[in-house]
Amino acid sequence: MEDKMDKIISLCKRRGFIFPGSEIYGGLANSWDYGPLGHLLKQNIKSLWWKFFVQERSDIVPLDSAIIMNPKVWEASGHLQNFSDQLVECKKCHHRFRIDHLLEAKGIEPKYDKEKVIVPEEVNCPDCGGTLTEPKSFNLMFKTFLGTTDDTSLTAYLRPETAGGMFVNFKNVLNVTRKKLPFGIAQIGKCFRNEITPGNFIFRTREFEIGEFEYFINPKDWEKIFEMWLAEIKHWWKDAMQINMDNLVWHEIPEDERAFYSKRTVDIEYKYPFGVQELHGIAYRTDYDLSRHEKVSGADLHYTDLETGEKFIPHVIEPTFGIDRMLLVCLLEAYHEEEVPVTDLTKEREQASSAKASKAEVRVVMKFPKYLAPIQVAVLPLSKKEELSSVAEDLADDLRKVYTVDYDETQSIGKRYRRQDEIGTPYCVTVDFESLVDKKVTVRDRDTMKQERIEIKELKNYLQEKFI
Ligand code: GAP
Repeated sequence: MEDKMDKIISLCKRRGFIFPGSEIYGGLANSWDYGPLGHLLKQNIKSLWWKFFVQERSDIVPLDSAIIMNPKVWEASGHLQNFSDQLVECKKCHHRFRIDHLLEAKGIEPKYDKEKVIVPEEVNCPDCGGTLTEPKSFNLMFKTFLGTTDDTSLTAYLRPETAGGMFVNFKNVLNVTRKKLPFGIAQIGKCFRNEITPGNFIFRTREFEIGEFEYFINPKDWEKIFEMWLAEIKHWWKDAMQINMDNLVWHEIPEDERAFYSKRTVDIEYKYPFGVQELHGIAYRTDYDLSRHEKVSGADLHYTDLETGEKFIPHVIEPTFGIDRMLLVCLLEAYHEEEVPVTDLTKEREQASSAKASKAEVRVVMKFPKYLAPIQVAVLPLSKKEELSSVAEDLADDLRKVYTVDYDETQSIGKRYRRQDEIGTPYCVTVDFESLVDKKVTVRDRDTMKQERIEIKELKNYLQEKFI
C-alpha cells in the first residue's frame, strides 16, 4: 500500500500536479509547489467546498481575514500558551521527534508527569536507536517581526488557523449582515505551523490551507446542530467528493482527550496508505472563543435574541477541513491501475496493430469526479496537417470559454489517450479527416473508453449534460 503513495508522488511530479519545493536549489524538506494541474485541482476542490458549504446556504457568510493579526488574538485563543507539541531529541544523532508520534507507533498509551509525557525506557530513536532526551514543549507558531529595526519591531505570528479572523470579526459581520443565530462565518486560507515532524507528502507540511467555518449558536440547540453538521459532512464526502465511504473512520474523541472547553469533537479519519490518520474534524467549542476574545479585548461580544430578549455569548460549532489533505484523498481515491485487454488498446492506437501484444496492458487512470478534473476536455487532431489542426484549434478555443482544455497533437492517438487518462481528463475529442466531411468528432469517455460520434455544433450541449 505504501507503494501507492510512491506512485502518486511520482505521477504528481511527472505530470505537473505537485513539484518538490525549491527544487533547483536542492529542495526544502517537506515543502511542495502545486504545478499547473495541481493548481487547477486544488482550485476545483476549493470552489466545490465553497459552493457546498457557503454559496448554497443562506446561513453562512464569507470572510477573508488577515494572515498576520494583532498578537493578542493568539493570547486570547490560547495559542501563545498552549499551541505546542512535546519534542524529544536523540542524544546520539540529534534528530527530533514528536513523542506522541513515537508512542503511537509502538501502541503505548502516554503517561504524564505534570503535563510532560514520560518517555518509556523501551522507546528509543527510530533512526539510530540512541536514547532520547526528556520532552520539551515547542510552540508551533511561526514568529515574525513587524517594523524595520529591532527596537521598534513588534513580534507577530503567521496564523496557525483561520478561526481567529472569524472570531475577531464576529461583531462586524453580525452588524453588517444582521444575521440571526444560528449562522456561520467561513473562510479558506493559508496557515502556517512549524511542525516538528512534517511528512507523508502533503499530509503534514509547515504551510497549508484550511477551509473552516465558525457556526454561532444558542447553546440549547447544540446537540441537534452538531448532528446536522455531521450529516452535511457525510453528504459532502459521499456525494460531492464521491469518495468510498468505507475509507473514512468517524472517531468520536473521548472526554479525557478533548480540549477542556469542548463538549463533543469528532475527527474524520482516512485510511491512508501510511495508516489511519486525521483528515479533518468538527468540534463543539462551547463559548470558549468569544468569551476569551471578549475578556482579552474588552469588546462586548454578546448577542441579543430580539424575540426572547435573551443576551448571551454565542457558542460555536467548528467544522474544519485541511484543503491539502482533501486533495491528497482525492488523488488516492482517483488513482486506478486497470488491466485493459490489448484489443481495446490496439483499437485505440493509431496503426499500432503491429505492436507485439501481450494479453493485457495496464492503464493508469485518475478517476476524478468529472467536475474536479483539472483538464475537462482534450482536443486531439488525428494529424498535424493544417486542414485538421485549424478546425481542431478553433474547436479548442470555443470549448475554452466553458471548460479547461488541453490541445495535444503529438504522438499516436493511443498514447495521447493514455496521457489524458493519467491526468484524469474525462473527455477526449478527436478531430479526423472524416470530420471535415461529416462535421462530426469522436468523443471518448475516460471511464468506459467508449467512443461516440457527435456533431460539432452539438458538442457543447453534449458536454454540458455530461458535466452536470
Ligand atoms: N481551527 C481548528 C483547527 O485548526 P486542526 O485540527 O488543528 O484544527 C484543521 O487543523 C485541519 O487542518 C486538520 O484537520 C487538517 O486537515 C489540517 N492540517 C492541520 N495541520 C496540518 C499540517 N501541518 N499540514 C497539512 N494539513 C494540516
